[in-house]
Amino acid sequence: MKFVKLGNTGIEVPAIVVGCMRFARMSDSELNHFVHLALDNKANYFDHADIYGGGRCEENFGRAIMSDKSIKREDLTIQTKCAINRHTEVTHYNFTKDYILSSVDASLKRLNTDYLDVLLLHRPDALCDPYEVAEAFDKLKTSGKVLKFGVSNHKPMQIELLKKAVKEDLIINQLQFSIPVSNMVASGMEVNMTTSGAYDRDGSVLDYSRINDMTIQAWSPFQMPRWMGPFIGSMLYPRLNKALKEIASEHNTTPTAIATAWITTHPANMQVIAGTTTEERLKQIIGGSEIKLSHDEWYKLYKAAGHRLP
Ligand SMILES: NC(=O)c1ccc[n+]([C@@H]2O[C@H](COP(=O)([O-])OP(=O)(O)OC[C@H]3O[C@@H](n4cnc5c(N)ncnc54)[C@H](OP(=O)(O)O)[C@@H]3O)[C@@H](O)[C@H]2O)c1
Repeated sequence: MKFVKLGNTGIEVPAIVVGCMRFARMSDSELNHFVHLALDNKANYFDHADIYGGGRCEENFGRAIMSDKSIKREDLTIQTKCAINRHTEVTHYNFTKDYILSSVDASLKRLNTDYLDVLLLHRPDALCDPYEVAEAFDKLKTSGKVLKFGVSNHKPMQIELLKKAVKEDLIINQLQFSIPVSNMVASGMEVNMTTSGAYDRDGSVLDYSRINDMTIQAWSPFQMPRWMGPFIGSMLYPRLNKALKEIASEHNTTPTAIATAWITTHPANMQVIAGTTTEERLKQIIGGSEIKLSHDEWYKLYKAAGHRLP
């Protein structure tokens, strides 16, 4: 397992985070077995959200893991996200103080714990009042319910707006990132061009994160754009799959491990949030984090996914 520094904290955390979005489909014993395997392989960082499985992912974790006496709470890093409200007629985003505080209380109850290591704001709320967020974060910090804070799917200027009021450091930004879904890399290279990759869709979030010591957590690292399924083995990405296989065979490993290494090789020291529920795949992904690709290999994969260099 590769380890990276978490934001500006100096704390070392695993480069592979266990994504819990698909845990609702696992039985308690399957989940318990899977988490023990993760812990045996140093993957002790878990990414939840209040909305995953309509709350059942947190609930299953709370039941199958937190009541397991062989697992100590302090050996786990538990992160969850809030602020997508699906409890009303119209799903919406909500950064109000009361909503954030009540979401955290509900997550703590489902997770069967009295504190979260990290809380992220899931998606930017168009009606965000940074002073309300600040009040909520202060209360969560002083009560000991949340130790550290961050965001997800945020642009740099939205983070700056929050920082105007929020006192706690925002140390994480969780963003979709994979070999095919890598516009944040493309727009940094196709500067001032008329090509499609040149569009800056994220406000230069990659450079912003590195300058401000925010850890990028790459979500859906093996998925095609628009939730079309995994690109590994997909007929929609023949060149990429050929390149993954060739490089995997040179490293005596699997395409999944190489697709992981493509992210962990980037010097931004990102974490990869793996959503697999398969033990063998999780081991491949953890192994992949230890592989450093050469420039040649990294760009070969990038171009094989259809990206161009000017
Ligand atoms: N912040 C956000 O807005 C946001 C959005 C989405 C997700 N997330 C987080 O990111 C995590 C990962 O997202 P994800 O599950 O979409 O990502 P993923 O790791 O790219 O996808 C995992 C899914 O792909 C399948 N898969 C098939 N072939 C695979 C292969 N060769 N390698 C790896 N997986 C393969 C897995 O099946 P098996 O289970 O059979 O392996 C699993 O269903 C989530 O659990 C969640 O914590 C965050």
